[in-house]
Amino acid sequence: MAEELTRNAGTNDAFTLVLNAQAVPGSQWTEGQNAILSDAGFAVASETIRGWPGYAETPLVALPALAAETGVAALHYKDESTRFGLGSFKALGGAYAVARLLQKELSARLGRDVSMEEITARAVPEAAQITVCCATDGNHGRSVAWGAQSFGCACVIFIHATVSEGRKTAIEAFGAEVRRTPGNYDDSVREAQEVASAEGWFVVSDTSYPGYMDVPRDVMQGYEIMAAEALDALDQPPTHIFLQTGVGGMAAAVTAQAVRRYGTDRPKIVLCDPDQAACFLASYRTGARTAVHGDLDTLMAGLACGEVSALAWEILQDHGDAVMALTDATAIAAMRRLAFPQGGDRALVAGESAVAGIAGLRLAMADPEAREKLGLDASSRILTFGTEGDTDPELYEELIGAPASQIRA
Ligand SMILES: Cc1ncc(COP(=O)(O)O)c(C=O)c1O
Repeated sequence: MAEELTRNAGTNDAFTLVLNAQAVPGSQWTEGQNAILSDAGFAVASETIRGWPGYAETPLVALPALAAETGVAALHYKDESTRFGLGSFKALGGAYAVARLLQKELSARLGRDVSMEEITARAVPEAAQITVCCATDGNHGRSVAWGAQSFGCACVIFIHATVSEGRKTAIEAFGAEVRRTPGNYDDSVREAQEVASAEGWFVVSDTSYPGYMDVPRDVMQGYEIMAAEALDALDQPPTHIFLQTGVGGMAAAVTAQAVRRYGTDRPKIVLCDPDQAACFLASYRTGARTAVHGDLDTLMAGLACGEVSALAWEILQDHGDAVMALTDATAIAAMRRLAFPQGGDRALVAGESAVAGIAGLRLAMADPEAREKLGLDASSRILTFGTEGDTDPELYEELIGAPASQIRA
């Protein structure tokens, strides 16, 4: 049985911590894992994405005052709010998978090896005959739509009932048709799949399941750039990485980069789920990929996923050490703390889905038993990923009480 503890039940600070009984300290990066994410795959993704117009490394921000307040030696926040002007790290994944899919499909259709340079330069007019589609809670769809527009193919994006109008408009701005479907995120995934099969479209999903692995693997390979930039910029490796989880693609990509780089000395990996969509919590509890159901109603829209990605599980079942499930209230508190810093830290615009990692760290550090279980102390060096900025500007302003422009200024 997985070790677990539950704290502060019924309060804003309620959390559950579950240790992953399958995480063996010092476990190796396996051949199976290397078939998913590898140095070779990363080299191709890195060369491609770094060549796109507008590529720039995002800042890795040190937060010494928040580190001191929390009780750790160092805390870094990789601020993805400026990534390719799309507002989230997702720009790296979906768009890259669109490029790879076009390269593969056009090579097959034209009977020759179409190069990535041709795709990026929109040099193959037949791309316009291809339609890509996906389900999204916002950020992934924005990336796929941007990729389709950049590389010259058509795009249809499916959003579920509670995705905001602001997020819908932002996707439409990249020229995609957006269709709203009843139900939750997982229902929209199924709808996208069914319509794609009927229409001969290509699903570019950020989640994987048996029989659908190639595209989401490319998505994750793109995400690894974020992790590599962060780890390159640190003077010393982190002791812990706190990662928010939707389907787990982002967390698996960061973990893959950390394990391949540091081997058996890898940092401890702590996943952070919203308590209303805690599919990693359910999975670490049972020791197998386990779905959670219901309306998955969390403010952390990007993390409102009930099913763990099959590929992410292959990596995180061995190399994820623990998961915490957190309330929306702790996320809002973390967003505010970053927007209105104390002690000289830089003010940061962090969206609802960007802060579960920071929120989890703060809760764990405030609880002696959680601290002990996660091996956290005053010498810990923490890395977190601020995976989005104000991707829904109206909601951001409502939660923070000020527009993002004011925080940035
Ligand atoms: C801002 C943000 N952070 C984190 C995630 C989680 O990524 P994954 O679904 O790969 O776990 C998402 C997913 O949409 C997101 O939009």
